[in-house]
Amino acid sequence: MRTDIPQPVRLADYRPSDYLIDRVELDIKLHATATRVQSKLSLRPNPKGVPGAPLILDGDDLKAKYVLLNGAQIDSSGLFLTPDQLRLETPPQEPFHLEIETEIDPTANTRLMGLYRSGTAYCTQCEAEGFRRITYFLDRPDVLSVYTTRIEADFREAQVLLGNGNRIESGTIEGTGRHFAIWHDPFPKPCYLFALVGGILGSIHDRFVTRSGRDVALGIYVEPGKETSATYAMDALKRSMAWDEEVFGREYDLDVFNIVAVSDFNMGAMENKGLNVFNDKYVLASPATATDTDYAQIEAVIAHEYFHNWTGNRITCRDWFQLCLKEGLTVYRDHEFSADMRSRAVRRIADVRTLRSQQFPEDAGPLAHNVRPDTYLEINNFYTATVYEKGAELIRMLKVLIGDEAFHKGMDLYFARHDGTAATIEEFIACFAEAAKRDLTQFSLWYHQSGTPHVEVESAYDKQAQTLTLDFTQSCKPTPGQDTKQPFLIPIAFGLIASDGAPIALQAGGSDQASEDELARGVIELATTRRRVVFQSVPTRPVPSLLRGFSAPVRLGNSSSEADLLTLVAHDTDSFNRWQAAQTYATRQLLHAVEVVRSGRKPIYDEAFIDALLRVLEQSSDPAFIAQVITLPGEADLAREIGENVDPDAIHGARKALRQAIGEGLKPNLLQTYQALTSKDPYSPDATAAGRRALRNAALDLFCAGNPEEGLPLALQQFESATTMTDKIAALSILTAHAGPEREKALEAFYATHASEALVIDKWFILQATIPEPETLARVKSLMQHAAFSLHNPNRTRSLIGAFATGNQTQFNAADGSGYDFLAGIVLELDSINPQVAARLLAAFRSWRSLETKRQGLAEAALRRVASVSGLSPDVKDIAERSLG
Ligand code: PHE
Ligand code: ZN
Repeated sequence: MRTDIPQPVRLADYRPSDYLIDRVELDIKLHATATRVQSKLSLRPNPKGVPGAPLILDGDDLKAKYVLLNGAQIDSSGLFLTPDQLRLETPPQEPFHLEIETEIDPTANTRLMGLYRSGTAYCTQCEAEGFRRITYFLDRPDVLSVYTTRIEADFREAQVLLGNGNRIESGTIEGTGRHFAIWHDPFPKPCYLFALVGGILGSIHDRFVTRSGRDVALGIYVEPGKETSATYAMDALKRSMAWDEEVFGREYDLDVFNIVAVSDFNMGAMENKGLNVFNDKYVLASPATATDTDYAQIEAVIAHEYFHNWTGNRITCRDWFQLCLKEGLTVYRDHEFSADMRSRAVRRIADVRTLRSQQFPEDAGPLAHNVRPDTYLEINNFYTATVYEKGAELIRMLKVLIGDEAFHKGMDLYFARHDGTAATIEEFIACFAEAAKRDLTQFSLWYHQSGTPHVEVESAYDKQAQTLTLDFTQSCKPTPGQDTKQPFLIPIAFGLIASDGAPIALQAGGSDQASEDELARGVIELATTRRRVVFQSVPTRPVPSLLRGFSAPVRLGNSSSEADLLTLVAHDTDSFNRWQAAQTYATRQLLHAVEVVRSGRKPIYDEAFIDALLRVLEQSSDPAFIAQVITLPGEADLAREIGENVDPDAIHGARKALRQAIGEGLKPNLLQTYQALTSKDPYSPDATAAGRRALRNAALDLFCAGNPEEGLPLALQQFESATTMTDKIAALSILTAHAGPEREKALEAFYATHASEALVIDKWFILQATIPEPETLARVKSLMQHAAFSLHNPNRTRSLIGAFATGNQTQFNAADGSGYDFLAGIVLELDSINPQVAARLLAAFRSWRSLETKRQGLAEAALRRVASVSGLSPDVKDIAERSLG
């Protein structure tokens, strides 16, 4: 337990470490409650540090058995030892050795940081600051060491012993029932990439030969009996390895690559060198237990962690402020991988949906922070959508600005120049400035200014002069600690189309012309607060298609007429903007309807919009794309668009009414789509088959929204006969959303069939937690008593409590404050078990200031209740205080 008051860490205070650790030899004897960790460190003063400075090693809750300096006891006046620190007052000023033994209790470790137990396994999690819960160390990412790890365990308790790097030795210890393995990782790495696993585990194995001929042994370790559910992950791993060679020229560098799936994990997965540890949710999949979305996520997370081997491990971060250096870049890389494996257009839409639903609200509320923050109280709280998703968008935008060729030249330069080091964002950007021969100072502001810029465009066509004038304006609201912003450099990819869809050739002219280069690339660079661009010789009034492919993470104010939106939906060659135009139209209608609902009237919807959906539905093109077009913006998306004085009940009412109108208006068409997409083919998780299922289920959902008497029996039939989890959960989700006897029957049947599959039961929790009815809170409370639920397991907690707080807008934001009180209570209870997960749940309050006044008051009271408790973890305290700040 930390007793001191946490102090903020500031980027401006960065100093190189006074000491370096070249080699680490660990000898770890696994024991359920008393694991012994012997650590031999080879240290030396850092030439870049302060000569003669004390040596301060980090610890967290440690119990030291002994400490030796160069093999001898240390005079007690020179050594200060607490559970959180080991301090040597006057360390030698030449290379020296420290030997430290600690004893730790993995069973008592409910925070899931450091060494802990999950199911039948021992495993570790060290990022960001977990290694200090194993032994005293310079726990900072710029201290790189070569590790040799000996792991010893009772054979019956841990047959499998895995570490970083290559296994160099193993054997049994005669007459003790114990055995050991020694792993050596030749690549210097920061301690956050350290990992070990011991346990009774099943496994599957394969090989990958790199393009230079290295034969790599691949292994995936899972709970015994689940081996066959790891085959898709293995396939995704091999495709990731091949892709990184082909697209980024990056080869794997060890003889072994292992992945271990555990059921208790705070995050998605972890890129430890040569030994990735995964939340089993991102490894295990079979058609009967995993949805198409699960398969796509497994593919993406496997790729993400694998790609970290270069972007994160070979080149790591100098300090935690540089987190986006590895995360933003690696998310960008996994997005590109998924785009190449699946439909690029559909992936882009899905990624932008995620950015808008996760990152935009963060940027618009009290938790807004820079992609490269400059201060933090608890680094765990900065593994955010801003660092990850917005960080990825900045890389994509950089590529739009400098072009593909310069981008890849810059990447190659980055790998060549910084391999084996701990780098900064400035060093990263310098590589691209050099490759593109371009000053990227203004672009860098994206890393240092938080908030989502807003771009307004006025378009005017002069028939006489045959000119089109576009007037761009950018602005960005203040965010915590940043009252004013400098203009961002915003690349706006664009095109002009005629009302029949024909593309219009671009000709610049006059003093307001776009540069030749901008025209050639189809990108206007908005670098100032305002910019006017005039196009000459435009024969007919064009429809501008702006921000194609979502070329910058901004909000685009859209003043296009409905007719123009319909032209874009029907004809734009940029499929992202076809989808966007439909979303913009839907959003406009819904925002208007929210006002109507609030004034107590019944909303009516525009026939033209429903007709446009019909025309999209009738196209026989990409079903996955059509499914995205007919899926309306979510309630949270609408709340974000409204931005202030939000009434979640009115939003729900408006959206429900539009879904009903579409279901009624397109009744025969939706039914026809549903029936036409029925497939008798054997299951395949590929994108084409998944796209057909997505459209079929989206059609059924809308059909049921408008025609429940006819639709629900269809859903029930699908539920009972489904052979894939995708179809089964889609049907159950519809049945659950409609009150009635079928709901409870179906939920019970589902539980009975899948009771032994924790990951499937998570879906069962999510569906129930997100029912938009006043009885849901009572249901959630009673499900907490269910045998399958545990606050100790992050996946269960996120599925029930997290889904309620972030996926149930009307009930979490219930007008009486009961949802807020509930969440505050859970956060306080969970804080003493797992502060990292507790803090994440609390972040569900991030948009509280945009609510109508009564709810605002209730949310604030709940946050204050949390903030006022003494002995809070730094994680929860930080989120509570920043949310209120
Ligand atoms: N570095 C991990 C990833 O993004 C995330 C992570 C952070 C996992 C902290 C565990 C703890 O791939
Ligand atoms: Zn990552």
